Amino acid sequence: MATKKSKTNSNLLNDYHLLSFDELDSTNEEARRLANGGGCHGAVIWAKRQSEGKGRLGRAWISSEGNLFVSILLQPGKPPAELCQLSFVTAVAAIEALEALVPDASRLQCKWPNDILLDGRKLGGILLESFQCKNASPWVVVGLGINVDSFPPRTEFPATCLKDAGVELVSAKIILSRFIHHFIDCYNEWNVKGFTPARKRWLQSAWGMGRRLCARLPDGNIEGIAEGIDADGSLLLKLADGKKHQVHAGDVFPMETILVV
Ligand code: BTN
Repeated sequence: MATKKSKTNSNLLNDYHLLSFDELDSTNEEARRLANGGGCHGAVIWAKRQSEGKGRLGRAWISSEGNLFVSILLQPGKPPAELCQLSFVTAVAAIEALEALVPDASRLQCKWPNDILLDGRKLGGILLESFQCKNASPWVVVGLGINVDSFPPRTEFPATCLKDAGVELVSAKIILSRFIHHFIDCYNEWNVKGFTPARKRWLQSAWGMGRRLCARLPDGNIEGIAEGIDADGSLLLKLADGKKHQVHAGDVFPMETILVV
């Protein structure tokens, strides 16, 4: 009887394959459909446009042609609690891919939980979704959007794109191939060594560490000094009374931009 190969120790380079589309509703949704139809660990789904691009927290992701929209379908075979680490792995791979284009690498930063910043403005975002199909081990989709050619106006956190930031302009397709190259390396390292290397590299380019931040949570705001991220990917804030607080999900803003009414 054929047995299903465990992906726990496999090298993603052997499993990687690219599926390209002119338009999809959402590359994350296409990855989910692929998983429901039997799945394919290592499938990379790239679309030139999305008609229903999805952002975090139920928001829409405006997806005009010229920007990068890609999702990777994975079945890591790791405990569910560790799967959120993949959004940090993805952010590190995205930063490494973009560093070749941005002469001063310190202009690129990761912002907790899932954003890529250029010059302190949002250049891209990551949407990580996981789900179970039948009796299989959980699937994860990591979706990455990078603003290459345009960005949405009037966003709560200011946005940018590579074109406006005066970066040497290359196509979304070239950024995709560089990103995939770095993602394979970062994923394989995570698979073998765990979260420590990606966490360290993420913190090296992290925005807002040591700064007073406000985390917007479903049940109210909480403010404190950002001190790092935990092994489970939560943001560690030091509150005014000195106590540590773990923020598991939400959005963060610099305290000075919060309007007190
Ligand atoms: C966010 O910052 O809110 C996350 C945005 C994630 C957007 C990407 S684009 C490719 C993939 N497909 C989607 O529908 N969303 C993600």
